[in-house]
Amino acid sequence: MMKFKTTLLTGILALACGSGAAKTIEVSQGYGLDFRTQNYTRQSTVVNGQTVAYRAYENIVYVANPADSAYQTINIYIPEAYFNGGSINGYTAQTAPIFLPNQIGGYMPAKAGVPGKGGFGPSKEGQVDAMQVALARGYVVASPGARGRTAVTGKAPAAIVDLKAAVRYLRFNDAVMAGDAEKIISNGTSAGGALSVLLGASGNQADYEPYLQQLGAAPAKDHIFAVSAYCPISILDHADAAYEWQFNGVNDYQKMDISMIDYHVERKLVNGTLTNEQIQISGSLKAQFPAHVNSLRLRDPQGRALRLDAQGNGSFKNYVASFLRRSAQSQLDAGKDLSSRNWLTIRNGKVSAVDFAAYARAAGRQKTPPAFDALDLSSGENQLFGTAATDKQHFTAFSYQHRANAQATLADPQTVKLMNPMHYISRHTTPQHWRIRVGTADSDTSLAIAAILTAKLQNSGKRVDFALPWDVPHSGDYDLDELFDWMDKTVRQPRG
Ligand code: DHB
Repeated sequence: MMKFKTTLLTGILALACGSGAAKTIEVSQGYGLDFRTQNYTRQSTVVNGQTVAYRAYENIVYVANPADSAYQTINIYIPEAYFNGGSINGYTAQTAPIFLPNQIGGYMPAKAGVPGKGGFGPSKEGQVDAMQVALARGYVVASPGARGRTAVTGKAPAAIVDLKAAVRYLRFNDAVMAGDAEKIISNGTSAGGALSVLLGASGNQADYEPYLQQLGAAPAKDHIFAVSAYCPISILDHADAAYEWQFNGVNDYQKMDISMIDYHVERKLVNGTLTNEQIQISGSLKAQFPAHVNSLRLRDPQGRALRLDAQGNGSFKNYVASFLRRSAQSQLDAGKDLSSRNWLTIRNGKVSAVDFAAYARAAGRQKTPPAFDALDLSSGENQLFGTAATDKQHFTAFSYQHRANAQATLADPQTVKLMNPMHYISRHTTPQHWRIRVGTADSDTSLAIAAILTAKLQNSGKRVDFALPWDVPHSGDYDLDELFDWMDKTVRQPRG
C-alpha cells in the first residue's frame, strides 16, 4: 500500500472549512489526509445470493502523525453502484449512511476490518459479517483500526482518540467521498461496544483535543449520528461494584484461564471457588454500589427514581429485572418452554416475577472480585490504564487501597474520566439513536452497566433500543437483519 508524504491540499481544506478563502495548514511531515489520493481495488461479495461489487480503499493512515501506523488505519469500502449514479436500498452516493464497525476486543490493538473477516460475526461457512451485510444494504463501510493496551502507545485513552480521529478523517473528506458523514453509525462488541458508546457520548468534547492535535487528526468535528453496541464493557471505574451487586453470594466461578489475551480466541474456562478474603471483598464492593447508583439520579421512562437501598434492593434492581422479564416473555410468546428456569415465576404464560439472585446463580460468576481492577494488577483493564512507563496500574481507589503490590500505582483521574461515557452523556450529546444489546447468558460485566447507560441516555432525551437477547453469551453481530433494519429506520426518520 502506498503512503503519501504530502502537505495537506489547500483545496480540500477550503472545502472542509466551507469558506471561500483557502486556508493552509503547515504539515511539514506526515501522511496526507486527502481521500482523493487513495488507491483502490475492485472487490465483490455475495450476500443472500446477490453479488455486491465495491471499491476497497485499504490501510489508509487517518492521522498526519501516527504513533502506530499499523493500527491507526481505516479501510473504506464503497458500493460500485455509487460511482455510476446508482442507488441501493434507496441510498445514493450522497445519502448513503457510513457504517463504522470497530474490531476491538479485550481493549487490545485492533486492525481495520475487512468484509468477510469481521471478528465478531458468525464464523460458519456461508454466513456473512456485518460489513458484508452493510454493503449489500447500500451502506458505505469505514472500519477503523485502533491502538490497544499491549502497546506502550496504546494505553488509555489511545483507542477512543483513534476512533475520533477516524471520524474526523471521514468528516474532513465528506465532500470528496461517497457516503454522508452526517450519518456515521458506530458498531462494536464488548470493549469495542464500550468504545462505540464512548465515541457517541464524547463527540466534539474538548477533553480529547490535545491527544487529537498531537496525532495530527484532520481538522473536522468528531460527533456521530447513531450508536450500536453489543455487551459494552463500559463504566470501568464502577464495574467492580456493579459486578458484586449482581454476583455477591455466587461463590463458585468459571473464569477465563488466560488473562484476556485475545477475545477473538475460543474462551476456555476454569472452575474455582472464592476464598474467604475474596468473599469479603465482594461484600465491600457490593456495599459501594447503592451510593453510586443513587448519585446518578436516574429515572425510568415513567419518570420514577431508580434507586437502591443499603442492601442493594429497590427500583433500580426492578428496572434491571424488567429487561430480563421482557426477554423471557418474548420466549414464552414464541412458544418456548421456560419451566426449567427456576429464577422465573410464570403464571398463565406470563412472567410474573424475576428472582435476580437466582438469575445471577444461573448465569454464573465469571470473574473474581474485584472483577476489573484486580488487586494483583492481573486484569486487562489494569494494563489499559497503564502508561508508557508503567505497564499496569490501578484505576479505582478501592483496589489501590487493597493493592497486593505496595509499589503499584493509581492511574491519573483524568485518564479514567476519558474512558467513562457517563461523564459526557447529556442533552447535548449528538447521537439521538442508540441500540444496546447484552445477552442474558453474558457474565463478563454486570447487567447494571448497560442499564445505567440506557437510563442515562433516556434521561438525556435519547432514543434507546435496549434488550437482553435470550440465552445469548458474550458476543455481537448475531442479529444483523434487525440491526440494519434499526439503522435504516434511524436514518430515515426525522431528527429527534
Ligand atoms: C472484553 C471482555 C471482558 O471480560 C473484559 O473485561 C474486557 C473486554 C472483550 O471481550 O472485549
